[in-house]
This record gives sequence, structure tokens and C-alpha cells, in this order.
Amino acid sequence: MNMGTFSLSKADVARKCVAILGIRGSGKSNTSKVMIEEAIKEGLPVTVIDPDAEYVDLVNSMGGDIVTGSDDASLRSEVHHRKAISSVIDMSEWNQESFSFLYKYLTNIWEMSKDRRTDRMIVVEEAHEFIPQGKVSGISEIITRLALRGRKRGIGIILISQRSAKVNKDVLTQSEIYMLHKVVHPADLKVYKEILPWKPKEVDSVVPSLEVGEALFYKEGKTEKVKIRQSTYNTLQFSQFREDATNMI
Ligand SMILES: Nc1ncnc2c1ncn2[C@@H]1O[C@H](COP(=O)(O)OP(=O)(O)O)[C@@H](O)[C@H]1O
Ligand SMILES: [Mg+2]
Repeated sequence: MNMGTFSLSKADVARKCVAILGIRGSGKSNTSKVMIEEAIKEGLPVTVIDPDAEYVDLVNSMGGDIVTGSDDASLRSEVHHRKAISSVIDMSEWNQESFSFLYKYLTNIWEMSKDRRTDRMIVVEEAHEFIPQGKVSGISEIITRLALRGRKRGIGIILISQRSAKVNKDVLTQSEIYMLHKVVHPADLKVYKEILPWKPKEVDSVVPSLEVGEALFYKEGKTEKVKIRQSTYNTLQFSQFREDATNMI
């Protein structure tokens, strides 16, 4: 998997937990898109939980299926599982229907993965929204189960968040690979200090000055500063609209 100044093998990520962290605009979604492109190319299907519909073009053009709250979760998850098809769960409506769909879809994937047909990576964008620290919901429970117990069933997870301190700690600390983009807030730097085997001062001096698309790549005790290539599918960002909509409620 060609990631830019470094590469990963399919075995590095399949059935693993990967965390991509950093402030808004630091390049997290691009990093995740590059991983997804490479995973699909290598025959590892992905399912993206996509609050901003920003993975639709990518997964669509690579032969995946886009689903929304108005689709039949049982039917779609079964077809995707059986045929090892990649999918995007378009959550951009951000309503009860899309949350019910998501819950059913993931629960079915968990059930069906007992009879493992293929590995699958589940990508959780804005992970703090779905598995927040200190709050439990049906959705947070199923994602936690997939992350902590999915390995034997062929399931890996990619968590993405701009609020690392607000993501469920039990899940986040189980990650095996971290892509740490720029953060500046002390609470987020603290999370990085817990992850990296670096002196706190070193984290404080390196992390806030990382540029867009640069990250500290951490795996098996080793940390490397890397630059991720641009994804072929960098489309417009809708997250600002969603936040505005949330503020109006
Ligand atoms: N590796 C990269 N190389 C060049 N430009 C990048 C890279 N990563 C991100 N960008 C650009 O920076 C902007 C923000 O990236 P994005 O991945 O959406 O950030 P985030 O998800 O952290 O908010 C996008 O316009 C994107 O094209
Ligand atoms: Mg993003």
C-alpha cells in the first residue's frame, strides 16, 4: 500500500485497529482515503461510516455501494458481506433513520462475520460522535465490540477524529497503528503523549508544527515522521454545514 513517503502491507492493516487523529484541516480524511484506495485495490473491502458524504465518490468509483437511512439494512449488509463489496453508509442526513440503519447494518455485519468470508475494514469518521468517551449507546456498543473483538472475525477498524480526548479511551488505546497529524490543544497533546514513547517536550515541539498531510506514524513501538500522498478523490468538505445545522437544533 503506497501511502506517500512510506508504505504499508495489507497484513499491516487487515484486522487491526488504526487511529487517525489531528485537528480539522490537518489531513486526516485524506490519509484515510489513501488507505481506503489502497485497501480496496488490494482486495480488502471497507465500510465507511461517513457523516459528510465525503467518501461517496471514492468508494463509488472503486465499485462500492452507497447506502443511506432509507435503504434496507439487512438486505444491503448481507449482499455486501456475501460478495465482499465495499460500502459507504451516507450519514449526512444525520437523522433517526440513518442512525437506525447504521445500528442494524453494523449488528448484521457482526453477526455474519462469525461465518467469515473476507476481511473488512470499518472506517469511523468523526469517531467522537459515534464512540464518545463516557457515553454509551447501541451504536457505541456495537462499534466497540467490532473494534475490540472483531479481529477473529476478520474485522479491522479505522478511527478518525479531531477530538482525540473525546473518543472512547478503551477503544482508542487498543489501536495498533496511529497516524498522528497536527494538534495544538493541551488535552490532545496529552493523548499523544500517552501513545508515543517520546519525551513530553519532544511531542510539544514536533506535533504543533506538523504541516497538512504530515503525520507521526506509530507502529510496534516505532515512530516515524511521514508525508502522506494526496488521494485521487479529494472533494469538497461538508463538515462545516453539518456543524452549523447541529447548532441550530
Ligand atoms: N497529504 C496531503 N497533501 C496535500 N494536500 C493535502 C494532504 N492532506 C490533506 N490535504 C488538503 O488539505 C485539506 C484538508 O484535508 P482533510 O483531509 O480534509 O483534513 P481533515 O480531515 O483533517 O479535516 C484538503 O483540501 C486536502 O486536499
Ligand atoms: Mg476530515
